[in-house]
Amino acid sequence: MDAFIQLDRVEKVFEVRKKAGFLKRERRQVRAVDSISFTVARGEMVGYIGPNGAGKSTTIKMLTGILTPSAGRLRVAGIDPSRERTRLAHRIGVVFGQRTTLWWDLPLIDSYKLMHRMYRIPDARYRDNLDRCVELLELGGLLDVPVRQLSLGQRMRGDIAAALLHEPEVLYLDEPTIGLDVISKAKVRGFLRELNDERGTTVLLTTHDLQDIEQLCSRVMVIDHGRLMYDGALAGLHEVGESERTLVVDLERELPPIDAAPAWVVRVEGPRQWLAFPAAESAAPLVARIAAEYPLVDLSVREPDIEAVIAKMYAGSAPGQAEKAVS
Ligand SMILES: Nc1ncnc2c1ncn2[C@@H]1O[C@H](COP(=O)(O)OP(=O)(O)OP(=O)(O)O)[C@@H](O)[C@H]1O
Ligand SMILES: [Mg+2]
Repeated sequence: MDAFIQLDRVEKVFEVRKKAGFLKRERRQVRAVDSISFTVARGEMVGYIGPNGAGKSTTIKMLTGILTPSAGRLRVAGIDPSRERTRLAHRIGVVFGQRTTLWWDLPLIDSYKLMHRMYRIPDARYRDNLDRCVELLELGGLLDVPVRQLSLGQRMRGDIAAALLHEPEVLYLDEPTIGLDVISKAKVRGFLRELNDERGTTVLLTTHDLQDIEQLCSRVMVIDHGRLMYDGALAGLHEVGESERTLVVDLERELPPIDAAPAWVVRVEGPRQWLAFPAAESAAPLVARIAAEYPLVDLSVREPDIEAVIAKMYAGSAPGQAEKAVS
């Protein structure tokens, strides 16, 4: 396996100073990343998830060289990011969903022209890459618009294009769909899938949206309190987390709780009933059975969100079991 990204017992400890009375300050250490090891092969698309404050952004910042690890060994494309940040910058692309890398007051195209020069991208390559991004991310009508006037979804697409103009081999995305509507999310996901399929770009994706992961990543890593809790297929995460999906059923009238094992009714409100079922089970036979046996008006399936999966994963795991989840 060509290990393109390699982390070996990487740690990041922040020293924070807290006011503890008049003149007195207390020093405290925050172990944001706590001995994390993993490798990502070239061309893989991996989800990196976990609750708020888990250490995801800190990991990504170390992978770009913005932050230096407190301990451990880290390599991206054979490069030590914090030592050779500039050299690495030519080979990686980064999108921080919470913060734009575009020039706020300039038309979008001017930011791209600046990047063209900053990265010394050959003219033909720059034009090809820009044309492709403009087409696939539907930026045509937006190039002359100042970034501050773009909607969040438009800005995010603009940011993704900016990260790709120099054709990086790896793309780090830190919450690229945060705050986007359904259509914008679909556009961004479709684009990332194509990028990975066609160019074999390695992608590390941080998100709170489990659908991003379901639609894009065959592999997911879960971190919490700076530790890697799980590394494997998404389906396996559902098993480890014993997570549940929810079926929301609208009946023609109020009826006794629906009887449809392995689902069980968790809530009833008039003609509407909520049924939970194990996330690893297929919804199709369950839906078919309920439709055949009950007077159905409407029905929808709700996916468990990542926070719930993780919460379950902890509640359900005996000490040591979480460790076992990491192979
Ligand atoms: N520069 C910093 N100085 C001190 N502490 C920091 C710094 N950056 C991050 N931390 C702390 O490190 C921990 C991990 O933060 P990080 O931003 O990596 O979390 P995250 O997983 O990206 O969370 P979120 O989902 O909220 O974005 C948190 O406790 C955070 O407060
Ligand atoms: Mg973050």
